[in-house]
Amino acid sequence: MRTYISFLTLFLSVFSFSFAQTTSDIPEVQALLDKMTIDEKIGQLNLVTPGGGVATGSVVSSNVEAKIKAGNVGGLFGIAGPEEIKEAQDLAVNQTRLKIPLLFGSDIIHGYKTTFPIPLGMSASWDMELIKHSAEVAALEATADGINWNFSPMVDIARDPRWGRIAEGAGEDPFLGSAIAKAMVTGYQGTDLTDPKTMIATVKHFALYGAAEAGRDYNTTDMSRINMFNEYLPPYKAAIDAGVGSVMSSFNDVDGIPASGNKWLLTDLLRDQWGFKGLVVSDYTSVNEMSAHGLGDLQAVSALALNAGLDMDMVGEGFLTTLKKSLDEGKVTEDDITQAALRVLEAKYKLGLFEDPYKYIDKKRAKTDILTQESRGFARKLAAHSFVLLKNDQKILPLKKNAKIALVGPLADNKNNMLGTWAPTGDPQLSIPVLEGFKNVAPDAQITYAKGSNITNDSVFAEKLNVFGMRAEIDSRSSQELIDEAVANAKNADVVVAVIGEATEMTGEASSRSNITIPEPQLKLIEALLETGKPVAVVLMSGRPLAIEDLNALPVDILQVWHPGIEAGNAIADVVFGNYNPSGKLTATWPRNVGQVPIYYAQKNTGRPEGAEWSKFKSNYLDVANSPLFAFGHGLSYTTFEYSDLKVNKASITMGESIDISVTVKNTGEYDGEEVVQLYVHDVVRSIAPPMRELKGFKKVMLKKGESKSIKITLSSKNLKFYNSTLDFLAEAGIFEAFMGGSSNVSEKVEFELKK
Ligand code: NOJ
Repeated sequence: MRTYISFLTLFLSVFSFSFAQTTSDIPEVQALLDKMTIDEKIGQLNLVTPGGGVATGSVVSSNVEAKIKAGNVGGLFGIAGPEEIKEAQDLAVNQTRLKIPLLFGSDIIHGYKTTFPIPLGMSASWDMELIKHSAEVAALEATADGINWNFSPMVDIARDPRWGRIAEGAGEDPFLGSAIAKAMVTGYQGTDLTDPKTMIATVKHFALYGAAEAGRDYNTTDMSRINMFNEYLPPYKAAIDAGVGSVMSSFNDVDGIPASGNKWLLTDLLRDQWGFKGLVVSDYTSVNEMSAHGLGDLQAVSALALNAGLDMDMVGEGFLTTLKKSLDEGKVTEDDITQAALRVLEAKYKLGLFEDPYKYIDKKRAKTDILTQESRGFARKLAAHSFVLLKNDQKILPLKKNAKIALVGPLADNKNNMLGTWAPTGDPQLSIPVLEGFKNVAPDAQITYAKGSNITNDSVFAEKLNVFGMRAEIDSRSSQELIDEAVANAKNADVVVAVIGEATEMTGEASSRSNITIPEPQLKLIEALLETGKPVAVVLMSGRPLAIEDLNALPVDILQVWHPGIEAGNAIADVVFGNYNPSGKLTATWPRNVGQVPIYYAQKNTGRPEGAEWSKFKSNYLDVANSPLFAFGHGLSYTTFEYSDLKVNKASITMGESIDISVTVKNTGEYDGEEVVQLYVHDVVRSIAPPMRELKGFKKVMLKKGESKSIKITLSSKNLKFYNSTLDFLAEAGIFEAFMGGSSNVSEKVEFELKK
């Protein structure tokens, strides 16, 4: 009897094994899989970097050449250029048994060699065509240099500006973030991945990486499923729906399990619920790091990752060194390994690498397609569109092109900080500093330059900013000498332009700050300049929202320019001298002080909302207002816009219908200009507490001086859906309020009803 049962068990397990066996729909891939040994399959799961570039962890791969020849490498990142890439591809194609070509990855998050503004800056343009085109240009340049797999876009929602990587994403809002995710994925990938000018995009970091507790990078995240599904997951989903080819798991844990080993995340949600069929790659050693998280030794965490649905192991080599043992011990199945190898091979197939492993290696293109005048011109335009005029009550800008200008500040004649964080493929020396841009755009202006202050006087802090090269240089002159020189220049000028803010490495990976103000020496400089009585316009650079209550209280105008990329100086000059009227709008809230963080516009009301005045037993602070310094969506222009006649085209809709919401916008100022008209909706009563308003549409429109236009945004009832407490995605019948205006704190509203 016992023999019979064990025979039956054996039969059933063999049967179910063959039943579940993984096969590829792509005959070429299947034919290859059929030939592969288990070691060759595991080799495909190994992603290495030979170092040399900028590594983002303490480990880099060793013996890369030998590993490629041994069939132990599926892809490489951190190398570029037709020669180097060809050399590596030759090893894979000529010296391995199955001649499987390698994938070549890279982080190209805001342009390849033609560096665009940091992604947070690009998002402030609210211009999906420009953003998509930035990804097309990045793909054109990167593929010309042999790269076919990009670790971008980063779509992590971030509501905490202390987190340095807020610079790499699109800010705080899931609706805008989703639109940008789609624009970037379609820009990188185009419509045909076999086209050698397109590359596979990677949506990252899946998931919730931007919700790191206390804004400290790599920290744990913890949130309700409702918050996750309604606020944090939509941009990843939008990238998947746009056909993104790969997904990168994040460093953080989600519900206690690090993302790289989280089966619920990587399989149940990503593959089963969302239908993702592509490649999942870990972040840099994030598989190994699960040991530090407390999930077991390298063998245990590697098996955990594979079982969770992770296909490729970046740098850590846990897969390479332990999966075979785990297979022998029954901790993973051969089918799971085959499945992961299949996804790597399918990615290579989609790129056309089996047909021609050298299709992305073209010495001619490397010369003709990179850093063209056209791409640089586009970078200049995109940068100008990303700037946000935060404050202009002094009406100092735009400047006359023949003015006498004292250009001052530690970022005013500086190449090293123009590109912004995580531009490892860009060359800071090719960037245009502000001084040069001013001379280009206003050759008749009389311009003097003085540094005025250091970025920081704190040498310990400065050292941390200089890990990738000099970013924050401490001058040999004293603070007073620096200020005196700038003040002397200011006295002889009609107007002062002070370029101050953050060094590039004050944001980005592992660059969280607990204090997000402008460093003191720079503020002191502004105060000293104001004492001259000359008008002072501040050009502010940063990779995050800053807490600038003190600066804002001074009689200065403030133009926020992020880190603008390779054409920084020209783009800034275009806006400062009025060739382009600023039109950017914030995509992340600027707090008054860091104590308000996390802060975002789509807040819930609470049961005890604050009133107009402070009052006990209300949801308010003793020492600061609830409102931010600058709201999400805020951004001024050299002209002014007036909104009127907000209306809906019907009083009610039923599910499946749409409603048109329109408003008249008039340019009432002295300049032509663009305005981002924003639609926010408030679900008045629903089964889970609704945010006070949520972005549901936007349009960027050009209005000539004096011109009026009626702007219509069509809202589909589908956009009223949310995840309820049982995680059903639905819209509930009832009254909705719609707000339309130039920022999230617009007050004009109309009502409509969603009927059953
Ligand atoms: C770590 C970062 O988190 C990720 O975004 C990047 O793609 C990898 N390093 C590779 O450089």
